[in-house]
Amino acid sequence: CESGLGYCDSDSRLSSKILIKGGTVVNADHQEVADVYVEDGVIVSVKPNIKVGDGVRVVDATGKFVMPGGIDPHTHLAMEFMGTETIDNFFSGQAAALAGGTTMHIDFVIPVDGSLSKGYEAYVEKAKLSCMDYGFHMAITKWDDIVSKEMEIMVEEKGINSFKFFMAYKGSLMISDELLLEGLKKCKSLGALAMVHAENGDAVFEGQKRMIELGITGPEGHALSRPPVLEGEATARAIRLAAFVNTPLYIVHVMSIDAMEEIARAQKSGLKVIGEPVVSGLVLDDSVLWDPDFITAAKFVMSPPIRASGHGKALQAALSTGILKLVGTDHCTFNSTQKSFGIDDFRKIPNGVNGLEERMHLVWDTMVESGQISVTDYVRVTSTECAKLFNMYPRKGAIRAGSDADIIIFNPNSTFHISANSHHSRSDTNVYEGRSGKGKVEVTIAGGKIVWENEELKVVPGSGRYVSMPPFNYLYHGIDKADENYLTSLKAPVNRIKQSL
Ligand code: URP
Ligand code: ZN
Ligand code: ZN
Ligand code: ZN
Repeated sequence: CESGLGYCDSDSRLSSKILIKGGTVVNADHQEVADVYVEDGVIVSVKPNIKVGDGVRVVDATGKFVMPGGIDPHTHLAMEFMGTETIDNFFSGQAAALAGGTTMHIDFVIPVDGSLSKGYEAYVEKAKLSCMDYGFHMAITKWDDIVSKEMEIMVEEKGINSFKFFMAYKGSLMISDELLLEGLKKCKSLGALAMVHAENGDAVFEGQKRMIELGITGPEGHALSRPPVLEGEATARAIRLAAFVNTPLYIVHVMSIDAMEEIARAQKSGLKVIGEPVVSGLVLDDSVLWDPDFITAAKFVMSPPIRASGHGKALQAALSTGILKLVGTDHCTFNSTQKSFGIDDFRKIPNGVNGLEERMHLVWDTMVESGQISVTDYVRVTSTECAKLFNMYPRKGAIRAGSDADIIIFNPNSTFHISANSHHSRSDTNVYEGRSGKGKVEVTIAGGKIVWENEELKVVPGSGRYVSMPPFNYLYHGIDKADENYLTSLKAPVNRIKQSL
């Protein structure tokens, strides 16, 4: 077939009317037993005992949960990074996502030579392979008047409402505090959400030199060179700069207690700071980086690094109490050959792990099966919160009349198994190799089509749609009032002095 992967099938576009019968429909705020009727890609009706005529595919969901498809806020498909390109493109990555119950993702556009428009065009090309809906964040890697103007174009014309600033990767993607400040101001003026990769890149560089001087060149050197304190420092700095500008902030891939506690402190003082844990940070620990087999250890190299056990547990607790709001993957997959670029020097191991296909199952197993969150919370952290933050709710993130028909049927009594032998990513390894647990996505419906059923994918390259996301999400409510009050408070002492003269 045209994908070369052997699992695309144009039959999937045939049945446009589907009735899901007898399941427990779960939204972020409510659950009830009801039928769901879908026509032409849209949910038409959600209520008990829907009657339909002929020509409707009926799917029995008795005893199962019917939930909004997952939305992954953080992926890197077909990303050129560290001298190579991620092994999953917009087709294989999305196919994997659909097999795991994720029906939309937001990928990071990387500018070309600092140019946002060139980066955007390149990603439009890459995304032509899409078999599910997707949106874009955009990274900002340099600053001048052109970039500033291009940010306006991206928001006003291209449907991008979020920008990522890398405080690490010195010499490639890293930005200065000065650029971060300019970027935060610009985001605020556009109603866009500023996102940061929070690690102190200068100190990481120093830490890397330190490891190499000590003769530590293996994957463990990666974790040792960029300890939690550097993530905590950058998180705190970004939070304070966003507070200074009075603009909301989204911290991507929160991996440590240090960063999480900065976020909690900020929230306590009223700041609008969102923390995103990723699956690897929630369920893995750094012992894997000490494996004597290079490839086994190198597959876990990502940034910020996977931390010592204890951090993951604390991140889970923070997710359950709402300090951390939604779960991403940072899916950024490299195969063994690519990972081995760093066989003699951990600094050359391409950074990134898989997770698009595994996220829904692992979050269920880790958070719901353990009793840490409810089923409705599960929908919130895997789908609805992302839809709300990036301003596409209730088109996405809800099972209700008028929403896109992105739906999963989840059997809580079945089991999932993870292995590179059976996953749909093109990678030859999986960081969750051998894991299994309770709960299974049995059916995935994306854009109103059944794309995953009976362990079989039926997906068509080119069928995915770009989702345009408008600015000014809910975090922006009240920001103008706060700015007015701030200005008034600045003028008050000046006026008092004038009056006393
Ligand atoms: O190691 C990682 N996280 N790779 C992807 C790039 C990023 O920092 O998100
Ligand atoms: Zn094909
Ligand atoms: Zn990052
Ligand atoms: Zn990332």
